[in-house]
Amino acid sequence: MQIKCVKDDVFQSRADLIVIGMYENEDIRNPFLLKADDLLTGRLNRLINVKDFKGTLGESLLFSSSAEIFSEYFLVVGLGKPDVLSYSKLQEAAGLAVQTAKKLGLSSIAMEFFGEDADNFRADETAEAIASACGIANYSFDTYKEKKPQKTITNVIIVGENIRDVRQAQKGIERAQIIVDGVSIARDLVNTPAKDMTPSHLAQAAQEVAQKSQGIIRIKLYDRKECLKKEMNAFLAVSQGSIEPPVFIHLSYKPSGRSKKLVALVGKGVTFDSGGLSLKLGNYMETMKCDMAGAAAVIGTFATLARLKPSLEIHGFIAATENMPSGNAIRPGDVVRASNKTTIEIANTDAEGRLTLADALTQAQKLKPDFVIDLATLTGACMVALGEEISGIMSNRPELAQSLLKSAQESGEQMWELPLFSNYDKLIKSEVADVKNISTVNYGGALTAGLFLQRFIKENQPWAHIDIAGPAFAEREFGSYISKGATGYGVRTLIKWLGSM
Ligand code: BES
Ligand code: ZN
Ligand code: ZN
Repeated sequence: MQIKCVKDDVFQSRADLIVIGMYENEDIRNPFLLKADDLLTGRLNRLINVKDFKGTLGESLLFSSSAEIFSEYFLVVGLGKPDVLSYSKLQEAAGLAVQTAKKLGLSSIAMEFFGEDADNFRADETAEAIASACGIANYSFDTYKEKKPQKTITNVIIVGENIRDVRQAQKGIERAQIIVDGVSIARDLVNTPAKDMTPSHLAQAAQEVAQKSQGIIRIKLYDRKECLKKEMNAFLAVSQGSIEPPVFIHLSYKPSGRSKKLVALVGKGVTFDSGGLSLKLGNYMETMKCDMAGAAAVIGTFATLARLKPSLEIHGFIAATENMPSGNAIRPGDVVRASNKTTIEIANTDAEGRLTLADALTQAQKLKPDFVIDLATLTGACMVALGEEISGIMSNRPELAQSLLKSAQESGEQMWELPLFSNYDKLIKSEVADVKNISTVNYGGALTAGLFLQRFIKENQPWAHIDIAGPAFAEREFGSYISKGATGYGVRTLIKWLGSM
């Protein structure tokens, strides 16, 4: 998809679809809407009344063209109330435009959301938000389809007569295109069926990212034997039921100049979670190819680093494994000693993510990073708490949580903070080991999972854990621009956050 920004009159555009925004209850006698109405031979005014169109977010009105305009169709999308116009609203509106054009089988769009108040926006950030939503909306996963069904949009023009700095906007669009590439890589990895996305395949995908970077990104892979040497017994315990060999992946990026900070990103990389001997019931196993979405977010982010070139040293850690039942599988009640010497009672083999993360977090901290951030499809409980579209963040440093929440909001991903209160520590106390991998009670499972991970974080180590079990995989559409399936959640937040450091 080609995206560009032009300072022009949107009504003169030659795109297949012209899209304009309208605020909620906006006076349609303003010059811009009057002109639109005029070009549509009075149909805008009429249809607004007939359909009782208010301009609320998510609403739209579609018109066939008229003799006055080149385009085949004309779309008016609601922008909601003008006082709280945020980037995420523009993203929803842009998504609706792309979705409409796709349905109509069109290939180019010209959109104008600024109207009179282009001055209220920072051109680069606004263009980045709109362009990234367009790119994300244009994604489809057709690898396994004999008939490639969907037509995609090839050209988007972000138009505004009052855009002050087109060059700035163009910079934002370039960033957006890199971001969308990273998000799409993560989505492809997660959407690929587990049969074709084993730990070895995941490692190969990480390797490809390194290869394409022309030496900017390095990668080290550790096999089972090497992991055993590093005493990663919690990680290996999860893998022992599967015939697929585990792989521990270490990606690294160093800036050409001075590095401001060292950041470690850790992603849960369970390529399929059957639950192990604590086998998942009913349809809970159906979407478990998504259990490496944390790893996919890390790999997707790394795929952007060679182009974005942040002044940070960044490391990525993924303990990649399947979680399968078999005669070799770990049993409920078994005790293992993780690489930081903590012993774990594995009371439930379906709480496997925290076991793999225990060793990955230990490995990450050996570099003494300024920040450790892990992303994991960790608990169904987090989905009970926050639903399908919002991730939960837990951190031992309030400032770190705040900065990640801000980056999430600015990039269009939803995130909410959950507490790491130590009084719940008693719930993961074990009779036989230092800690137990599930809680004694049925409530607060996202929090006890966070507290379990904290046992593997050193006292002075700033760390944040993001539970992405909900938003990593959309079982139904999230708003207008995120379709069913893998979402690439986390990539946008991580890139924003790394860029803000
Ligand atoms: N991978 C799951 C969590 C999950 C659930 C991710 C739904 C995405 C969607 C995780 O390994 C798991 O099975 N967690 C258990 C923990 C329980 C056994 C304490 C859960 O949430 O039920
Ligand atoms: Zn599980
Ligand atoms: Zn899992």
